[in-house]
Amino acid sequence: MQTAVKQVRDLAIEQPSSVRVFERFGIDYCCGGRKPLEQVCSEQNIPLPQLLQELAEAEGHSPQPIEPWIARPLSELVDHIVRECHAPTRTELERLTVLANKVNSRHGANHPELVQIQQLVGQILEEMTPHMDKEEQVLFPYIISLETAAVTGAAKPYAFFGSVANPIAAMMADHDLVGAALASIRSLTNDFELPAGACPTYHALYTTLADFEALTHRHVHLENNVLFPRAINLAGKE
Ligand SMILES: [Fe+2]
Ligand SMILES: [Fe+2]
Repeated sequence: MQTAVKQVRDLAIEQPSSVRVFERFGIDYCCGGRKPLEQVCSEQNIPLPQLLQELAEAEGHSPQPIEPWIARPLSELVDHIVRECHAPTRTELERLTVLANKVNSRHGANHPELVQIQQLVGQILEEMTPHMDKEEQVLFPYIISLETAAVTGAAKPYAFFGSVANPIAAMMADHDLVGAALASIRSLTNDFELPAGACPTYHALYTTLADFEALTHRHVHLENNVLFPRAINLAGKE
């Protein structure tokens, strides 16, 4: 299938080097990624030939081709998510809380959007902390036990929550809430554009917010588009 007609989320799964290109162009490849690339380009006024060129270059310049997670054991993917997504999410949310409070207390009077940004950071912290705890303590261990049962031929493990699709639906609803809060932050900051004469803490807040958005998009992509569909598929097998 030609790249232009593939869905953005499928490209992100099959060609992991595409993710950074999508981030650069502000293309949503996680929660809203079920659209063909050519449609996204026309909706966002992105020249398709340029995007295709950059996708091809990104793949060619990858220091080593990244093996798509679709082919690796789920236990490795879960480890990767906990280490590379959950751990930095906890650290960065702590930093963002301090930075947002500080910048709002100093500059909130002249920049009223800072109050909302501080509140949104607080909401994301309150949403993500129990969310990641539930994944690490309940859902991820269950997914790993499903995989072990499939490999050894043992019976599927019992789950108090019934089908694995139930906690997955709850986690995806949380992802949507966090995605919406991040989209609000992007719009309140005019795509992280600093006001003239912004102080270094203001700079640090916007840079950290932009990096946090990219981290969350990668995190949600790995769960919504790779881990969760594979877990549901595994649970459906006899
Ligand atoms: Fe997660
Ligand atoms: Fe999650």
